[in-house]
Order: sequence, then C-alpha cells, then structure tokens
Amino acid sequence: MSLSNDVKESRDESDMADLVTEMKDLAPEELEEIMSVVNRDTQSKMHNVDSHYDTIYTWEYDKGARPALDKLYEKAKKAQWNAQTDVEWSIDVDQEKGIMDSMAAGGGFAGVNTATLDLSGTPFQKWGEKEWVQFGIEAQNWTLSQFLHGEQGALVCTAKIVQTVPWIDAKYYASTQVMDEARHVEVFSRYLDDKLSGHYPVNVHLQSLLDAIVEDGRWDITYLGMQIMVEGLALAAFGFIYQLTNEPLLKQILKYVMSDEARHVAFGVISLKEYYQQLTSAEIRERQEFAYMAATAMRDRFLQQEVWERMGIEPKSVVPLLNQVPERKMFQAMLFAKIVPNCKKLGLLDANNGWLRDRFTEMGIIGFEHLDDTGSEYEELQVVGGV
Ligand SMILES: [Fe+2]
Ligand SMILES: [Fe+2]
Repeated sequence: MSLSNDVKESRDESDMADLVTEMKDLAPEELEEIMSVVNRDTQSKMHNVDSHYDTIYTWEYDKGARPALDKLYEKAKKAQWNAQTDVEWSIDVDQEKGIMDSMAAGGGFAGVNTATLDLSGTPFQKWGEKEWVQFGIEAQNWTLSQFLHGEQGALVCTAKIVQTVPWIDAKYYASTQVMDEARHVEVFSRYLDDKLSGHYPVNVHLQSLLDAIVEDGRWDITYLGMQIMVEGLALAAFGFIYQLTNEPLLKQILKYVMSDEARHVAFGVISLKEYYQQLTSAEIRERQEFAYMAATAMRDRFLQQEVWERMGIEPKSVVPLLNQVPERKMFQAMLFAKIVPNCKKLGLLDANNGWLRDRFTEMGIIGFEHLDDTGSEYEELQVVGGV
C-alpha cells in the first residue's frame, strides 16, 4: 500500500496567524498553579474512571437511515491500514540530529531561538547548547507520549460511543473508529519505543480533561469532548508537525493518522449537527460551557510540566519565560483552526446570545470561524482505499 496523494497543503501559517487576535496573558499566579501540578508517577499500571451511563440497544436496523454516517462508514471500511506492515519501520531516526537541525533553523524553546530571550535571573542562564538539545529531545518524547495517551483516550471514548449512541449507523461507524484508534495507539507506542528515547506519563491536566469527557453520562458529551474538541485540536497539531518535521518516518505516520482523524472529526460534526437541533437552549448552554472548559484546558494547561521537572528545573520557575514568548501563545491559538468552524456548524457559537462566540473572542480565536468546517475534509486527506 502506498501513500499516493499528498496531504492537502494546509493554509499558510502566516495567513492563519492573521486570524488570531490579542489574548490576555494568564496571570503569573494562575500559570504557577498550572505548572505546579506535575505527574511524577511513572509506576502506576492503571487509571480507573468511575462512569455511569445507559448502554442503548436499538431495534431500528435500517442501514443508511442516516446517509452521511453510512457514507463515512463505507469509506472507513476501505481506508484501513496496518500499523505493523504499512509503515516503513526500517527507516532510521536520529533524534538528536533532528533536534539540532530544528535548532539551527531557529527553533529552541517554543520555536524561538533562545539567544533572543532574556534568560537572566532564570534557571536557564547557565544552559548551553547541550542542555537545550537535551530539552528538545525530552520535549519531543513528552509530546509524542501525550499523543499516545490521547489516542488511548480516543480509543476508550469511541468504544463507549458504540454502546451509548442510539443510532445504528453511528454504532457501525464508531466501531471502525475503535479499530482506527487501536492502530494509532500501536503506531505511537512503537515509534516511542523504537525510535525515540523515553516515555512520559500522562500529563495530569490532559488526564483530567480525558476523565471529564469519559465519565459524563450524556452520550453527546463524549462526542463533543473527544471528536470535536480533542480530535479537532489533534488534527490541527498533527498538520503543523507534519509541515515542520523533516523526519520521514514521523511524516509517514502522521499522514496515515491524519487521514483517519479527519473522518473522526467529521463523525462528530455529522452526528451532533442532527442531535443539537433537538436540544433546548438550556441544554445547549451546557454544551457551550463544556466546549469552553475543554478549550481553555487545551490552550492553557499542557505546558510540558514533566519535562522541566526531568531537566532538574522547578516547573513553576519557568513562568517568567512563558509570557516572554508571544509565538507560544500564537501557536496555541492556531491549534483551534478546526475547532471554531466546527462549533459554528453545530450552532454552538451563536446560541444563547452568542455565549461561546464571546468566549472564543476573548481567547483571540474567533477569526477562525469562517474557515472550512471538517464535515467533509476527510475526503481530501484520505490516503488508503481510493475515492
Ligand atoms: Fe486517533
Ligand atoms: Fe481519532
């Protein structure tokens, strides 16, 4: 099987940057609080989430009663790939060289050349190239580890959707996504084991978000949290990393994964578009608040706390550096390029006097509302199975 199509050129980064508007800095005390929650537990083998929900059987077996979901299901059957045999695991990865190349191109901390930062009075003033390279390696290990844990979150959430969604076409589709997510866990786990240099435990803030999504008894909240918010962000993040990395194996993996993720986000958009038309204003307001909670968690809280700790630096002491780097906030904001138009398509932006529109305006991300939603992008990103 070959990767026949090129990944659709994503919008030029500088165009996207124009859509982000000024956002208030978090207060240093807030950042310190976020940074001080660090997962130091590398020993636990399990994490349990208590969850109460109805498992729904349906006796309406009419396949194709929801044509858009049926089409997605048929696509998904043809788009399966094998994480062991379709990926070229023989490609060698020189992680250190990759980090040094990206530093030579101007990247260091948050894509910024550290020579341009005022590090005096911070724990980094004594750092030389060796420490920054090590930081880059650890940061990559951390990022791929969080992708891995997030993929497992998607695996369990989608298995839950198979049980809880009342429509047969959605149960069928979700079953293919369960297989997709198993493959994503497999592929990131193997890349970390074979090609990088160490795993990280799940970031505590990421775990809290995944727990909030999976423990909620309302079936649509699983979709909203996972398919719209987490997978919407992941699709944008994978796209950026795909553009930025020159490492051919990671590029190949991301291309395969993105082709699946685009379908998953479409699954969320198609399903919730129908369901949200039946909800009351008060019920919609709860969904708006949930979307906002997830958005702020994803924008503000995943700050590589565990990396600083492993580098021997008190995570809280990094706070002065965080607000010194506007590029960091810009990058965080650009990760919402898929989420905002999808929330708009679901009617979540403008319901209840534009409550979520106001929140996204404060976050500086409302400019993305006119970008394409992800209802059909999967057709352009598909790499396996033809059209
Ligand atoms: Fe995935
Ligand atoms: Fe996914």
